[in-house]
Amino acid sequence: MSAVSPAARVAELRAEIDRHDHAYYVLDAPTLPDAAYDALFRELQALEAAHPELQSPASPTQRVGGQALAQFVPVAHVVPMLSIQTETDTDASGALNFDARIRRELDLPADAPPVEYAAELKFDGLAISLRYERGILVRGATRGDGATGEDVTQNLRTIGQIPLRLRGHPPPVLEVRGEVYMRRDDLAQYNAEATARGDKTLVNPRNAAAGSVRQLDPAVAASRPLKFFAYGLGDVAGWEMPPTHAGVLDALAAFGLPVCEHRAVLAGGEALADFHRRIAALRPQLPFDIDGVVYKVNALALQRRLGFRSREPRWAVAHKYPPQEALTVVEAIDIQVGRTGALTPVARLSPVFVGGVTVTNATLHNADEIERKGGLCVGDTVIVRRAGDVIPEILGVVFEQRPATAQPFTMPLFCPVCGAPAVRESGEAVTRCSGGFSCRAQRIQAILHFAGRRMMDIEGLGERYVERLVEFDYVTGVADLYRLTLDDLLDMKRRADERDGVTPETVKAGQVATRWAENLLAGIAASKSPSLARLLFALGIRHVGESTAKTLADWLGSLERVRRAPAAMLAVLPDIGQTVAAAIAAFFAEEHNARAIDALLAEGVRPCDEHPPSARLAGCLTWEHLYAALGIPRLTPLRARQLAALVPGDRLAQEGVNAAWLSAQGLPAELIEALTTWLQQPGQRGSLAALAVQRQALLAALPVAEKGAETVASAVAGKVFVLTGTLPTLKRDAAKDRIEAAGGKVSSSVSKKTDYVVAGEEAGSKLDKARELGIPLLDENALLELLKGVAAT
Ligand code: IVH
Repeated sequence: MSAVSPAARVAELRAEIDRHDHAYYVLDAPTLPDAAYDALFRELQALEAAHPELQSPASPTQRVGGQALAQFVPVAHVVPMLSIQTETDTDASGALNFDARIRRELDLPADAPPVEYAAELKFDGLAISLRYERGILVRGATRGDGATGEDVTQNLRTIGQIPLRLRGHPPPVLEVRGEVYMRRDDLAQYNAEATARGDKTLVNPRNAAAGSVRQLDPAVAASRPLKFFAYGLGDVAGWEMPPTHAGVLDALAAFGLPVCEHRAVLAGGEALADFHRRIAALRPQLPFDIDGVVYKVNALALQRRLGFRSREPRWAVAHKYPPQEALTVVEAIDIQVGRTGALTPVARLSPVFVGGVTVTNATLHNADEIERKGGLCVGDTVIVRRAGDVIPEILGVVFEQRPATAQPFTMPLFCPVCGAPAVRESGEAVTRCSGGFSCRAQRIQAILHFAGRRMMDIEGLGERYVERLVEFDYVTGVADLYRLTLDDLLDMKRRADERDGVTPETVKAGQVATRWAENLLAGIAASKSPSLARLLFALGIRHVGESTAKTLADWLGSLERVRRAPAAMLAVLPDIGQTVAAAIAAFFAEEHNARAIDALLAEGVRPCDEHPPSARLAGCLTWEHLYAALGIPRLTPLRARQLAALVPGDRLAQEGVNAAWLSAQGLPAELIEALTTWLQQPGQRGSLAALAVQRQALLAALPVAEKGAETVASAVAGKVFVLTGTLPTLKRDAAKDRIEAAGGKVSSSVSKKTDYVVAGEEAGSKLDKARELGIPLLDENALLELLKGVAAT
């Protein structure tokens, strides 16, 4: 480096950094590790600092740096920034209309060949113009009224995708037109970080782009993840233009500008309509928002012939898509009570058609979310978004349209259903009804959860029946379901009809419909022997989803063992942290829950697959792990190991902390003190002793279990099954449960690793594949036989 002059080295570094910037920002294909790039950058900064005469605004070191402005300076556009005509027909006819108009205006006879078009996306951001002189970015401006915009050069320079110096051999003057935008994932990440800082979030990508470019302080713009696409030209001098628009875009890309890859040259209206359909399908997957596609006559000579009409070119059109955002009014805010008592505010909206459906309500999540959007009042006009199959959401409030009388929404102090105090624990976003199971709404939700398809799978027990059963007090807890009689159900129906003022046809005819009730009772009866994992999931323990329930079932093997396990014992199981372990232990410790479970057992509900605890437990139930799981202050995993080697938990519970001895063994004084204080807390010694007893009991159950399980289960354990077609009686979920309960695996595709294919009626290609690979086939009977072999021993 010392051999060359500073000026030459500076030029070399700039060219190299520009090259890496282009690869990184525009091509999205980094060519250099970050550290190596940083080294080049720092070398350039140092040289520029040492040789101020070498400074240049086009240097990659000069992206951010300007002072905040008092106001923007107006910029007159040499070539006005036009708007574009919109084709409002969102179906294919929009494209055909445009093609027909172009052919008419060009006076083309019916048999003339199709017109060639350049088709591209209509980006939903902010239009800007970039002026390059001799390849250097000298000015960037907004569109403004089309004739005069604002000088936002400082802000645009902070956008990594916008080159400060063009590559190749750019003309003396080149104005590039395009769109600044924000990707949806960048917006989400920015908002997450803003939330963490306690800052306001950005409403949507378009507002975010527009708002960021029009910041007086370039440091603010620099903090926003903006992107850019070039799609056209303004003032140009000294350039022999390519003959087509597509050629212009290719040239811009070659100058190092980002041009969107989703563009095409197409002949005729049908091809345009096709493009419109193809991009519509792509729209949900695009990382940024578009509100349509744009068609442009490709030949620049034809563009000149077509010319302009007032402020729109005749050679281009925007063909829109149905909007994914719309404005509507919040008519009311209701509170929904969830299974765990969570109070969720839900906005009732004036019906609005958006994203292809009519939206009438949207969740507001919780008080924090509402706060983040700057508050919300009934009567507010809000921006609603629904994209793809995503649940509609409220993006933000149009504050300018807030009625003067509007009252800000606040979370209620009491549960709207049962009247119990609503509480919000510190550090939690959710406000909860404190009524527990005495709250009717929580009861309904808990029973619905219990009956759900992935839980007890009670067929026919939907929302309507559960609501009525709870409302008329036929059911107060889940066990009551199993005591229902035909008379109860018919009674309930009669009372509900009476209340609703309906007289069913059958009643008019002097009959009573009983079939539905018989079916429901059959569904309830059929749910009495779930797998242990399903039963645990069905109980609705906070933080216990399907996979945690499965872990509990796999490792502990019986409901009794799960019920009795102290939190520390649960916390040593894989993927169960202290919070979840505490929630599980607290659930079973609560008297009400204990009674509910006893009642279920009394009704004959029994897990069908209880088994001895997993042999792997031995490795988890060491005092080293248990100590670490107890949440003793200052007890790091390393210290837990040390302590376990010195005193096992049962002795600690019996004898207490022998401070002098532990100190002599090398435990630090502050740890001994923390341990002493911890053990002196009321009930602590007792629970430690109880943990020791539970541990002993589990360990005692292990070795026998090991041998038993290994030998009997071998027919199914470790084997890979593929299910295909419909089995005569077993539902697919049930078959899967039972195979898994016996230690087998169920996979979705047939391969050489498959041990058995279980085929039912209308088995398709999987059956063919199995035959091809010579994999043993089982029907339902054979599967049950195999499973019976496991359970019987
Ligand atoms: S061309 C002479 N191409 O749509 C035609 N505009 O009213 C000038 N827009 O806000 C526009 N994507 O920023 C063109 N691929 C695209 C576009 C596009 C988005 C925006 C443009 C302006 C509006 C036109």
